[in-house]
Amino acid sequence: MATILAIETSCDETAAAIISDGCVIRANIVASQVELHAPYGGVFPELASRAHIESVSAVVSRALADADLDYAQLDAIAVTQGPGLVGSLLVGISFAKGLALATGLPLLGINHLEGHVYSQWLADDFREPAFPIIAMIVSGGHSELLLMLGHGSYRRLGGTIDDAAGEAFDKVGRTLGLPFPGGPAIEKAAQCGCADAYAFPRAKTDSVYDLSFSGLKTAVMRAVTQQPSARSQRRAEGQARLRDDVHIPDVAASFQEAATDSLVSAAHCAMRDYAASALFVSGGVSANQSLRDKLRARLELPVYTPPLFLCGDNAAMIGAAAHFRYLAGLRSRLDIEARARWMLAEDVYASE
Ligand code: KG4
Ligand code: ZN
Repeated sequence: MATILAIETSCDETAAAIISDGCVIRANIVASQVELHAPYGGVFPELASRAHIESVSAVVSRALADADLDYAQLDAIAVTQGPGLVGSLLVGISFAKGLALATGLPLLGINHLEGHVYSQWLADDFREPAFPIIAMIVSGGHSELLLMLGHGSYRRLGGTIDDAAGEAFDKVGRTLGLPFPGGPAIEKAAQCGCADAYAFPRAKTDSVYDLSFSGLKTAVMRAVTQQPSARSQRRAEGQARLRDDVHIPDVAASFQEAATDSLVSAAHCAMRDYAASALFVSGGVSANQSLRDKLRARLELPVYTPPLFLCGDNAAMIGAAAHFRYLAGLRSRLDIEARARWMLAEDVYASE
């Protein structure tokens, strides 16, 4: 049984976890920076890397203490190598390299998106379905549709051509004056709204597997904010002014309906065309109950979602992904570099 210490610092969570056997969570610490970035309505990269520097050491120590383990009882150190904010990634990578050097443990650089896929393996009742599987990753930074052919083997079918799904939730949330991050706030507001109050568009893309949320975001802005002159003036102040007759729950529910419809439709086409045995949905937006319900109601095959506490960024999923690499005998060199952009579009194991 391999036990792996995993570190994740790709965006605004400083996280460390200890995973045994690819599926047992021995410790899972997430130090969120949400409050730090909330005043800016989005992640402020310089603040994020500084906050990672301040907390990474304590977060790793706490993970070891929670698991009641020391370095001698570990088999490897895994770290998110990309994609993400370079300054943030560098903090985790440098720390992990230092640990690997000091302890002699092997280092594994992991793709953050692959981590989101592997968050499924950490659910209590998870049983690995037969490959191929369709994996949809919907977060603040990514919206990807992948065909997973086996462990570490992916084909990219499509993804967003503009904003990520979570980014659209965050931007619409900001327009509506809701707290950051917008996703959970919109979901909450939508509970007392009417989903067909506004006829927001479902984007048409050239490929049925691609997604687009920027037109939807603009349509919401047009519908709820005041006339252009007042709007451009207010925009300069960072917040367009809402029309007086706007009922926020109705806007939230109608937006959520349109956004989730697009995701369901892309997933449906992929499942139909690739004879997949299951759909994996992960990333921050996969916490959305309306999306979960709609996927389960409209798709005939099983839909897997991670437990809620593993939908957002965490290191447990990085440890789960690392486990399968470790078993395959893969190790990273100590001079790996941060990869700001890194598509999960190839045989990741073979690309070493
Ligand atoms: O995976 P994640 O924590 O970070 C990234 O890798 O980006 O995803 C964060 C995103 C944010 O945009 C947030 O608004 C969205 O996930 N989100 C949600 C919900 N909870 C988080 N979107 C819709 N409904 C939710 N319940
Ligand atoms: Zn993520």
